[in-house]
Amino acid sequence: MCGIVAVIGSREAAPLLLEGLRQLEYRGYDSAGLATVHTDEGQSSGLITCRRAKGKLVNLSRLIDEKGSPGYVGIGHTRWATHGKPEIHNAHPHRDSSGEIAVVQNGIIENHRALRHSLVSEGVKFDSQTDTEVIPHLISRELELLKGEGQEINGTMLLQAVQRVSSQLKGAFALAVVWAETPDALVVARRQAPLVIGLGEGEFICASDTPALAGWTRTILPMEDGEFALLTPLGIELYNEEGERQQRSPSLLSGFDQVVDKRQFRHFMLKEIHEQPETAELWVARHLPRGLSADSPVALPFEESFYEGIERVQILACGTSRHAAMVGAYLLEQFADLPTSVFYASEFRYAAPPLAPNTLTIGVTQSGETADTLAALLMEDERRSAHSDPAFASRQLGITNRPESSLSRQVQNIFDIGAGIEIGVAATKTFLGQLLAFYGLALAFAARRSSRKPEEILRLAEELKSVPNYLRDLVKHHDQLAEHLAHRFSDTQDVIFLGRGINFPIALEGALKLKEISYIHAEGYPAGEMKHGPIALLDPRVPVISIAVPGVVFEKVLSNAQEAKARDAQLIGIAPKGPETEVFDALMPIPDVCEWISPLLSVVPMQLLSYHIAALRGLDVDQPRNLAKSVTVE
Ligand code: AGP
Repeated sequence: MCGIVAVIGSREAAPLLLEGLRQLEYRGYDSAGLATVHTDEGQSSGLITCRRAKGKLVNLSRLIDEKGSPGYVGIGHTRWATHGKPEIHNAHPHRDSSGEIAVVQNGIIENHRALRHSLVSEGVKFDSQTDTEVIPHLISRELELLKGEGQEINGTMLLQAVQRVSSQLKGAFALAVVWAETPDALVVARRQAPLVIGLGEGEFICASDTPALAGWTRTILPMEDGEFALLTPLGIELYNEEGERQQRSPSLLSGFDQVVDKRQFRHFMLKEIHEQPETAELWVARHLPRGLSADSPVALPFEESFYEGIERVQILACGTSRHAAMVGAYLLEQFADLPTSVFYASEFRYAAPPLAPNTLTIGVTQSGETADTLAALLMEDERRSAHSDPAFASRQLGITNRPESSLSRQVQNIFDIGAGIEIGVAATKTFLGQLLAFYGLALAFAARRSSRKPEEILRLAEELKSVPNYLRDLVKHHDQLAEHLAHRFSDTQDVIFLGRGINFPIALEGALKLKEISYIHAEGYPAGEMKHGPIALLDPRVPVISIAVPGVVFEKVLSNAQEAKARDAQLIGIAPKGPETEVFDALMPIPDVCEWISPLLSVVPMQLLSYHIAALRGLDVDQPRNLAKSVTVE
């Protein structure tokens, strides 16, 4: 899960590559590199300059300032290490032995060991421990063969070599290749990893994600799975996996993709937490317009046939998206009376339950690129397509923040959460967007299944309309409070998060947020489970953060909190103000709302507290160690 950028045009490539990489740094940031091709006047062949640096992009930028990297054609990479430590020799681009072919790759070459072994037996020497390095060596071998066949040396020859090599590679990847002998050609390819081509004026930029195109062009051509492209200053030649030329019209990027700016905030994460009222407001405007009725309480982008005959739901997701799915499952089961199961996508791939009929499979992924989620959805689609009984037909929905992502090209129906680009690696506003998507589905299914009285359905829709204002107050008041409370965590090593019912997934999410950005060990539990083991961990050094919302399990959660207090744990409550919640040593108050909508609010104090604890520790909140925004490897 790295970021790649490639450019070809009539301007110096290095500054453009660096700017593109800066926008992709969220995908990986342990090392970075670029290679450019420079041609001297009157020469048909060029020279490749390759610059690589360990650590954040700023190190590469300094290196380029110092040493330069000339040429109008180039490729760049920001890395999240999979094979080989984050060291200069493992940073991309990787080159063949002659140094004339340079490659950047995002993904994993699963058969790299066998390929490396065969290349080594032919005498090839490797410089890195990466899976990628086999590619330039293989391309070099294919180019020699093509030359031997008497072919003309040009971009088409490079394209053919890349096509031949790709057919030898197993795994999911996107790659970009330059060759010194064809200085006016750039070849890119994608297989189950994202790659989008941007069309500028007299230049093309290719990148793993659209923010890298921001400020450059809004005209894009997302590459389809299995496609190759040969880019020259004159145009694009696009080919499918079978080598057939493709003709496709470009599309326009939406406005959101253009904005990657921290505004007055210290970190993107804080900005994105503060954007949540707007996320909710947009959602309400889009999905709860005036004039809706109990029969049709929500406006969703699906035909009536989408809902017909669905008897159960299974949701596949990872990380934060899985937590949103768990709230979703609670809503679908408890509000809409629709049996629903949630799976870790990575587990589902290898241990899927027996097929059940009339099932809607939902994939939740903010990036739309998470390899495990995409592969699990694909696997489910394939096993259902192989079934002869139409009741088992594949019916899939993707919930994502990136409607132009691979997910959207893979599943039949998409729910775009429309939260706007999220740069902080820790998901915040996209989590809220995912939750809201599930509220929409729960309303839609409840109405169709008559699982709730019309007035209950309309009440939930009305409650949801108040969420933007509640959120506005919450972010305003809790920012300072969380900053103040964060000081209590200066020496903390372990934190327990408790929640129950619809707020149990929020406890899990609180623990994940804290772990991700502050590196403090944290666990979320259903409050009732504490006494079955985790309570042994409690002492005055282990704070317990408990979500207590009036409703089905309010008293139970308060009793569980008392049990923790009796073990001298420091107790922080996320609960409405009131006599019952005086049990807490500190309170992060939330409004006394109906329990159904409480997760949309209880998550905000969690996010702010995690943020301030990490910020107070001086940690890199937006780019936490070892993580990346989009996990495109298995
Ligand atoms: C969220 O804070 C995490 N960075 C991570 O758990 C994330 O939710 C997970 O990798 C899934 O990502 P996705 O939503 O893009 O599929």
